Amino acid sequence: ASILVLHGPNLNLLGSREPGVYGAVTLPQIDQRLRELASSQGHHLLSLQSNAEHELIERIHAARDEAIDYIIINPAAFTHTSVAIRDALLAVSIPFIEVHLSNVHRREAFRHHSFFSDAAEGVICGLGAQGYELALQAALQRAEQANS
Ligand code: DQA
Repeated sequence: ASILVLHGPNLNLLGSREPGVYGAVTLPQIDQRLRELASSQGHHLLSLQSNAEHELIERIHAARDEAIDYIIINPAAFTHTSVAIRDALLAVSIPFIEVHLSNVHRREAFRHHSFFSDAAEGVICGLGAQGYELALQAALQRAEQANS
């Protein structure tokens, strides 16, 4: 299967950004671990971090032509603002899992609403970088089922 991992704004600063909230692990470390997990099971994983809404949207559009089976997305602050990224995911109809490092429900009220959760296959939050690994495990299993 081919899996696309998308990281939204400010996640390039992981490791130094509010480590008490987001942990010490860096984004390259997260991506490398996910790539290794996918390739060790014979799958292909691509990832992109962007601080720009339009780049994330264009990457989602391109995913349709690349036959991406599953998207794992941490929309970061766009979670709470972006109808446009939500619409892009629905437009390509690629199933997706929403991931947040922090437990957004334990934080400010403006983080409690997501424009993505009701359209996601699943949502994982509060488990730090492990959330991405759990999402990948679920995505690979579901993609295999869909292709068999
Ligand atoms: C986040 C939570 C968002 O509220 C925040 O804007 C982020 C990161 C998380 O992974 O916990 O940038 O998506």
